[in-house]
Amino acid sequence: MKVLVACEFSGIVRDAFLAAGHDAWSCDLLPSDSCQDRHICGDVREILGWGWDLMIAHPPCQHLATSGARWFHEKQHEQHQAIEFVRCLMVAPIPHIAIENPVGILSTHIRKPDQVIQPWQFGHGETKATCFWLKNLPPLQPTAIVAGRRGRVHLLPESRDRWKERSKTLPGIAAAMAAQWGQPHPIQLSLIAPPSPSKNPTQIPPPKTAKTPPSRKRSNPCGIWVLENARRRT
Ligand SMILES: C[S@@+](CC[C@H](N)C(=O)[O-])C[C@H]1O[C@@H](n2cnc3c(N)ncnc32)[C@H](O)[C@@H]1O
Repeated sequence: MKVLVACEFSGIVRDAFLAAGHDAWSCDLLPSDSCQDRHICGDVREILGWGWDLMIAHPPCQHLATSGARWFHEKQHEQHQAIEFVRCLMVAPIPHIAIENPVGILSTHIRKPDQVIQPWQFGHGETKATCFWLKNLPPLQPTAIVAGRRGRVHLLPESRDRWKERSKTLPGIAAAMAAQWGQPHPIQLSLIAPPSPSKNPTQIPPPKTAKTPPSRKRSNPCGIWVLENARRRT
């Protein structure tokens, strides 16, 4: 399966899919923390049409999460842009999509999530409600319910990289994604049954030819695929 892990600098979900044998790539504006030759450094919106089978996206939540509600009135423009970014990911031409975000305003501005999970359902004894909006994917099933209900990420000391530590996907959740969403799942194109051909002769147009994943892009010495550099060279 060709898997795109959008908005991921840590490489945690990408590596879980790689370990399960998939052709997995991460993409972020930042370089990957794990610096492997499986990261595309650039704007994910430019690569959504590269023929992926599955996308798991972790869009920025600082202007969307309920935890920042006290500043909402000061950042309406940023909020609007953040919502439009999520909409763009949601309508990407990819058959299977999971969008991850904390509890926040997406529920009212787009729609309610399909699922809310907790780390303690996946082997990590802590709490952090995490929502998923799913397209052609089943809800993630808990893999290891453990004790512990500490809000670890809220207790992290102030530091320059605190946001990074807070936003990294936990390995137990990443492993569950790879094991459960890495399986084939049926594609539902419509929420209602298709009309019978005699009543509706409209033809469904054939899918557009997708661009290929990043095999034609060149890597920098760090092994990171940089969209800007690739564009300048061509
Ligand atoms: C909440 S963090 C997600 C971190 C992720 N869970 C991980 O483990 O690495 C959101 C990330 O989205 C990235 N981002 C923001 N806009 C982006 C864009 N247009 N294209 C790609 N990545 C983007 C940010 O750089 C940031 O690293």
